[in-house]
Amino acid sequence: MLSREENELLTRVGPGTAMGYLMRCYWIPALLSEEISSADGAPVRVRLLGEDLVAFRDSQGRVGLLGEHCAHRGTSLFFGRNEQCGLRCIYHGWKYDVDGHVLETPAEPAESDYRSKLRHIAYPCQEIAGIVFTYMGVPEKMPLIPRYEWAELQPRQMFAVKSLLECNYLQGIEGDFDSSHTSFLHNNDINNAERLKRDGAPTLEAEETGYGMRAISIRKFGTEQIYVRTSPYIMPSFSIVPGPPTAKFEEDDIRGFRFWVPIDDGFTWLYILNMRKKPFADEERKALRSWTDGEYRRKRNRHNDYLINRELQRTRIYSGIEAINPAEQDGCATESMGPIFDRSKEHLAYSDKTIIALRKMLLNALDGLARGQEPAHVIRQESERDFLRLRSAKAILPTGTDWCKVMEGLGENDA
Ligand code: FES
Ligand SMILES: [Fe+2]
Repeated sequence: MLSREENELLTRVGPGTAMGYLMRCYWIPALLSEEISSADGAPVRVRLLGEDLVAFRDSQGRVGLLGEHCAHRGTSLFFGRNEQCGLRCIYHGWKYDVDGHVLETPAEPAESDYRSKLRHIAYPCQEIAGIVFTYMGVPEKMPLIPRYEWAELQPRQMFAVKSLLECNYLQGIEGDFDSSHTSFLHNNDINNAERLKRDGAPTLEAEETGYGMRAISIRKFGTEQIYVRTSPYIMPSFSIVPGPPTAKFEEDDIRGFRFWVPIDDGFTWLYILNMRKKPFADEERKALRSWTDGEYRRKRNRHNDYLINRELQRTRIYSGIEAINPAEQDGCATESMGPIFDRSKEHLAYSDKTIIALRKMLLNALDGLARGQEPAHVIRQESERDFLRLRSAKAILPTGTDWCKVMEGLGENDA
């Protein structure tokens, strides 16, 4: 469990908070490229880390992410005219470029140079893998974006799906670092003999790494084998989770790089960047997002009790939630805790070993930040950017194997 104060520290992300400052040390997803697909198209509202912003694509295809409220008297730029390389407020016509320069103030006297003294809130953006990343921190401290596996994949080998989680980001990402729940929450066939062979009480380890942490779980698999999984937690709130034990990345395995991005303290966007060697067909893309609607809301959500089916729960599916994506079952588990669970009320057990380690790492990072230390995984040099081989790993091995060695071969050092 955490003290109330520690819980507050880890979960509050708005401007001026410690965790908000930590999050602002990194490039984070702001929206999908598809949301502003055409130059001079309609701007969209973006709420990120408790700040209200507006994103638009200008005439040259550049993406701008501006403070929502016009610097003049605050009208929302969401209603603005996106024209000739800038977003123009509809109240008095002030016009902004993607960098926040005020280009025109047409209601002012012609000789006025007032506009040159102003600079509107504008966060820099970069588009990679169909995602618009932004940096909201101190401009002089802007880091480089690490190069993960997806930096080298072709667009048709990737597909990003975004979905709303109606609770704090930490509840969401703690699930990715909690291997033991997969035996229960994600058991979609309670009568499956292969699954029954898997041990529900894995041995757990957590190791600090240069990018954050790595969780390791080791399950007995029948009497002669073990099933080992490793999953990275990547600063500030990203993860990679392994697929089913038998799938191979070359063939049918879809690996998911996951970004948990706070909208504010009580809401989160989960971006799942699906990756596979074999290109995704259009039909597959449709299927991958079929559990969300046009507004990126989940079809199974807390307002309809996740469409839980008690008969299925009795006969086949442990959770009673027939999911297309396991994130739907995760959503029920984490949203039903409430927007921000009071972690002073928890009763942590052995199965939470990796979560305890994760919280400790984050609290240490905040402590370091308060003393002027830069947190882990803020990349400053080109030579530090390479995380191309960082991935989750899984393997079924004969009991007694030196799994550490084998997993190293499968995971971060995989060729
Ligand atoms: S409020 Fe935007 S131009 Fe006046
Ligand atoms: Fe899960």
